[in-house]
Amino acid sequence: MTNLTVDLGPRSYPIRIGSGIAGGIGAFAREVAPKSDFALIVTDEHVDPHAVPLAESLKAAGFRTSTVILQPGEETKSLTWANELYDELAEQNADRRTLVVALGGGVIGDLAGFAAATYNRGLPLVMVPTTLLSMVDSSVGGKVGLNHERGKNLIGAFHQPAGVAIDLDYLKTLPEREFRSGLAEVVKYGVIVDEDFFDYLERSTAAILARDPVALEHIVARSCELKARVVELDEREETGLRAKLNYGHTFAHAFEIVAGYGAWLHGEAVSAGMVCAAQLAKNLGRVDAEFCDRQSKLLEAFVLPLRPLPEWDAAEMIDAMRRDKKSLAGKLRFILPTKLGHVELVEGIEEAAVRAVLSASVG
Ligand code: GLY
Repeated sequence: MTNLTVDLGPRSYPIRIGSGIAGGIGAFAREVAPKSDFALIVTDEHVDPHAVPLAESLKAAGFRTSTVILQPGEETKSLTWANELYDELAEQNADRRTLVVALGGGVIGDLAGFAAATYNRGLPLVMVPTTLLSMVDSSVGGKVGLNHERGKNLIGAFHQPAGVAIDLDYLKTLPEREFRSGLAEVVKYGVIVDEDFFDYLERSTAAILARDPVALEHIVARSCELKARVVELDEREETGLRAKLNYGHTFAHAFEIVAGYGAWLHGEAVSAGMVCAAQLAKNLGRVDAEFCDRQSKLLEAFVLPLRPLPEWDAAEMIDAMRRDKKSLAGKLRFILPTKLGHVELVEGIEEAAVRAVLSASVG
């Protein structure tokens, strides 16, 4: 078992990572939310089987519980379903001590987290992520939110959880494609902040793809630790440091929009997005061909896409990038590498440079 801390002064919290720790989540929740007597479990139909043991564990730790089971999928991240959670909280006479427990992937974490951030001006939240992507990214760092018809995550808040409990056994039943999609974000941490971790990933592809428990614990723990260190330096994404976590994401968001949400998994889009960002950096003289080759080889070893689909239109993708909520006044900005383990925020990139990368990628 690995125990980490996200050090944010009064908003600090523990991350517990291990195989078979689900039975202890009740006791963990009691430690991080000692005053709560009621816990609302929010989950979806895919992970519903894990909800009953989780409720048992919470009850054994003295919580009264209620469970809301939602439809899986991005459409659930809406005000309609947040309202469903508010209704249940009101029905249960929730007060400021009420604990919200998010059991699921990124959609559940973001939605339950948003309800926790807003109901009664803020309730304690425990994240129990069940996908690799949510274990290594969205469950840590306090970004919660909903989609609006004009864009993903347009409505949101920073609301740090009281704790994060990661049972690696949940990964045993994760579909292969989703598992690989999560690996794209793991590779990202190596590229942006930790060359040694990148080397480890290169050496360990077989063990990781075989979901070897020791390898899994290492990649999840190291990813969470690296994300925690970045979040500690720039909790609310104000100085540009936290923006590093968006490496590959400007391209990725455009790919997700042009493909139609759900056609590509987020990590698949991030993989092709990192390849394009590296190529852009190479064209601007920031990295050499060896950097691009090593990154592509590792992503390929994890059977992840390396380029957008040939039928996608470059102009449409650039348009999507300009409309991305992370672009400033429509100006194109990218996180670009200078070497393995180091990236920088680069503003004002010429559209022609982006077009050249996309045109070369889609042939
Ligand atoms: N997923 C990017 C962040 O948490 O800042």
